[in-house]
Amino acid sequence: MVRLVTFVMMLTPVGVIAQIPSTSHEMYTAWCASCHAENGTGQVDVPTVTAEPMDFTDCSVTTSEPDADWELVIAQGGPVAGLSSQMPGYGDSLSGGQIHALISYIRTFCSEPGWPLGNVNFSRPIFTEKAFPENEVVILPSVSHGDEENGGQGVIKAVYERRFGTRGQFEISAPWRINAVGGRSTGLNDVTLGAKYVIHANSASTRILSGGVEVKIPTGTKNKGDGGNTTALEPYLLAGFAVSDFSLQTELKIEVPMSDVTEVTEVVYNVYGGRDLSGLPSTWSIGIELNGVDDRLAVTPQLRKGLTKTGALATAWGVRIPIVNRQRQHTQWVGYLLWEYRDPVRAAP
Ligand code: HEC
Repeated sequence: MVRLVTFVMMLTPVGVIAQIPSTSHEMYTAWCASCHAENGTGQVDVPTVTAEPMDFTDCSVTTSEPDADWELVIAQGGPVAGLSSQMPGYGDSLSGGQIHALISYIRTFCSEPGWPLGNVNFSRPIFTEKAFPENEVVILPSVSHGDEENGGQGVIKAVYERRFGTRGQFEISAPWRINAVGGRSTGLNDVTLGAKYVIHANSASTRILSGGVEVKIPTGTKNKGDGGNTTALEPYLLAGFAVSDFSLQTELKIEVPMSDVTEVTEVVYNVYGGRDLSGLPSTWSIGIELNGVDDRLAVTPQLRKGLTKTGALATAWGVRIPIVNRQRQHTQWVGYLLWEYRDPVRAAP
């Protein structure tokens, strides 16, 4: 604190009694504005650092950041999250309460309403779709094992997600069959196009609800068990809740075939419970999913790990174990590799 008091006194015109900043605005002006600018844009007349801080007024970049990441950066400095060491750490001079107040203050620079906050941007489960909209590419391999009919099958699904507006997201997903066992060949399965929208995110940032619809296009090859039969409409609801240090995420989807009468409507329901072991972007997360398709139920215990300090790359691995109607399901090794393509992969020097 001594260091900061001297700093404030130096800036105080002679004759005025030096005040320790107390409101979040005063604290920001005294300790942060020299680099982040009084208006939060990071554009200062006389820059003291070479790294350019994030523009806090740009809602599209700030809102998806969770408070937990910022708490760490403000307390420990930029490098903890792969950012420049030119962002100093204030953990020795500021209390947790002051850091919270500063984060709330920084949040006010985004003046556009409607953006859901990153506090409900929970770690992605393997099957349960996230309610939070993302700019991501996700590669999801799955290998079923002991499939008597086909001697096992592997599928790699590539998903591209892109946000639009404050709350929307487009998505395209293309599954590719990779095994050639039991007379099957490699090829494209049914491609899905989708859009989702955040219906509700509470101001305390503890819950989020999204709805959307996917259209499954019969691009797969008929009679190979990978679709190709009919266009299907798939409306869904997604919810996420923060429950102390845990996240609870749910998905309910109905798959309605549009023309082929031999195909039946299916209900897909997934529930994930899990937690991140720290607020670091590179943290480990542990969780378990309950995965249902009609009367077939499975559980998927899983581990997730941020691969870079910035959190731009992450991977998850798990095993989907049938628990109800086991004869009609197979154990599957599943996982993903994801890339948040708007975040830098490499940590700042
Ligand atoms: C000496 C200059 C400097 C000072 C003083 C400073 N910062 Fe920073 N800050 C930076 C730089 C530079 C970055 C960006 C680093 C990067 O992107 O690699 C940054 C990044 C951040 C971030 C992370 C944004 C992101 O990219 O996710 C937060 C939050 C932050 N600063 C808050 C604060 C707060 C609060 C204060 C005052 C208590 C403060 N900073 C004081 C230079 C500074």
